[in-house]
Amino acid sequence: LWAVDNLAVYKQSYPQLIEAAKLLRENEVVAFPTETVYGLGANATSDSAVNKIFEAKGRPSDNPLIVHIADKKQLNEIAEDIPNVVDKLIEHFWPGPLTLVLNQKSVGQTLSKKVTAELSTVAVRMPDHPIALALIKESGLPIAAPSANTSGKPSPTMAKHVQNDLYGKIAGIIDGGPTGVGLESTVLDCTGEIPVILRPGGVTKEQLEQVCGKVEIDQALVKQDEAPKSPGMKYTHYAPNAPLYIVKGTAEYIQKLVFSKQQEGLTVGVLTTVENESYFSADVVYTCGSIHDLQSVANQLYETLRKFDEAGVDLIYSESFPEDGIGQAIMNRLLKAAGHQVIYEE
Ligand code: TXA
Ligand code: MG
Repeated sequence: LWAVDNLAVYKQSYPQLIEAAKLLRENEVVAFPTETVYGLGANATSDSAVNKIFEAKGRPSDNPLIVHIADKKQLNEIAEDIPNVVDKLIEHFWPGPLTLVLNQKSVGQTLSKKVTAELSTVAVRMPDHPIALALIKESGLPIAAPSANTSGKPSPTMAKHVQNDLYGKIAGIIDGGPTGVGLESTVLDCTGEIPVILRPGGVTKEQLEQVCGKVEIDQALVKQDEAPKSPGMKYTHYAPNAPLYIVKGTAEYIQKLVFSKQQEGLTVGVLTTVENESYFSADVVYTCGSIHDLQSVANQLYETLRKFDEAGVDLIYSESFPEDGIGQAIMNRLLKAAGHQVIYEE
């Protein structure tokens, strides 16, 4: 926890931190970088502060927020009946891209009910970013923070994405440069016998299983007809303006689709990797990392989806990615961005 140990030093080099922490204490909303995506923070104990998050994002009020903390001691003020496996998970993955869903403290709970959308559980995480940790510490509060995008849009991985979505609607942004992971945290439900992944993310299933044995995946993520246990997963999300289609097929096949749409007079974009870029001729071809380094794909996915908006294409074809490791989170986000429109090569 470098930032927490060196808070005084850090505050000197980031005077915005003091200002931002003050705004949080005054129940204003402030965007800040985390290691996953930019978050839109507010005092998690204040109804009016939390309301401002929902208003700025246009977020449905039945979708609960993650509470961000900077110190493990804050956890016991929020949650109870914490199973032993959680100690191991925290030891290995905090600070980091793992959000734990736990039973809320029943007596003396100080969190606003709006944070948890009236659920009996609460989602908590400790972000692995010096600015986020220093800001939370300096505010002296648990900080509710969803991703700092307009609801439905790709999450922001740069301060300018936040600005494009929320300028004029929030009190400020701390610009900490591009985020690291590029996709959101893994949401893990730890209230049952076996931990269940509600949202795949920065920590992979394989990594979790190495630490705590068997881990399950919410079946709603696999089968489309089941209602997800994480309320946020039911919404269309991460979507660019133009319709997006994921193609399970060769580059040649994707290129054929492109030509046929161009003949209809449409402007077509292709989302590919550096290895395959040269196969394509389309109105815009954007690469999103390397097929041999899925972390680089995760890192650039949201930025690339936003670039298609700037280019103003009529439709986008995307390559498909392998679903191992971080690939599970990549395909989860890409499928949601595409509204589950997948084209299979005959
Ligand atoms: O990486 C991240 O997690 C980022 C950064 C800013 O920390 N935050 C983020 O928050 O992605 P948001 O609000 O965009 O997504 C939170 C997800 C939603 O799918 C929500 O439904 C789920 O967590 N969630 C929150 N509380 C929950 C609960 N008590 N039970 C089940 N799911 C919950
Ligand atoms: Mg979000």
